[in-house]
Amino acid sequence: MSHVGLRYGNGPEVLRDINLTLHQGSLQFLTGPSGAGKTTLLKLIYLALHPSRGFVQLFGQDTSLASRDDLAYLRRKIGVVFQGFGLLDHLSVFENVALPLRVTGREHQDYQADVKDLLSWVGLGKVLDVSPATLSGGEKQRVAIARAVVAKPELLIADEPTGNVDPEMGKRLMRLFLELNRLGSTVLIASHDTNLIQAVIADIYSLTDGALSFLPARKKKKPK
Ligand SMILES: Nc1ncnc2c1ncn2[C@@H]1O[C@H](COP(=O)(O)OP(=O)(O)OP(=O)(O)O)[C@@H](O)[C@H]1O
Ligand SMILES: [Mg+2]
Repeated sequence: MSHVGLRYGNGPEVLRDINLTLHQGSLQFLTGPSGAGKTTLLKLIYLALHPSRGFVQLFGQDTSLASRDDLAYLRRKIGVVFQGFGLLDHLSVFENVALPLRVTGREHQDYQADVKDLLSWVGLGKVLDVSPATLSGGEKQRVAIARAVVAKPELLIADEPTGNVDPEMGKRLMRLFLELNRLGSTVLIASHDTNLIQAVIADIYSLTDGALSFLPARKKKKPK
């Protein structure tokens, strides 16, 4: 992002002059108080919003010059855990999680075991066939995370991914993000969860009143 500003309608700028580069294969957090603009910034990255000024370049492509088809192609490389989950209630838990694999044309028998394994890992192995509408907030959040990571996206954007789960499950979900990152995905996690942020050595971007500041990763302690 280069000198990006964003206003909703005729309102004030919610984001001001954002300059941000996410390096391929990196993992970082985005933090900041409620209303600071975290979700807005993430939406600009996953192309749900266009900047009011400045440029967003994604996977080396200037998004302002991209056609609708190009944008759809870029969008498919991104896994998103939405703050409001964004699950489809008319599909089962299994079908929600399998969706990113189905759209790439993969066959059911080809991905069935992977989807089941992933849902078991997040503790949902027994609710494969129910509608997400019948699940608790924390369970929905885990379905949303499974769906975002299942296709091993080049970029994973997670908006408050552990806001509704207990600390133990929070750690388990973080391991999923770390594993995805180890396999090469770039990961950006917006979170207020200080336990989550402090458990990992990673760069932290902090948003306050629409402006971004950068806190480099804590230095690793030298071995004695
Ligand atoms: N669709 C919208 N129309 C108008 N204003 C909006 C819209 N979405 C967000 N805003 C405003 O933009 C600002 C930033 O909102 P945003 O959702 O990005 O914050 P956030 O940092 O994600 O907050 P939270 O931690 O509560 O999720 C807020 O003042 C909010 O009211
Ligand atoms: Mg938000």
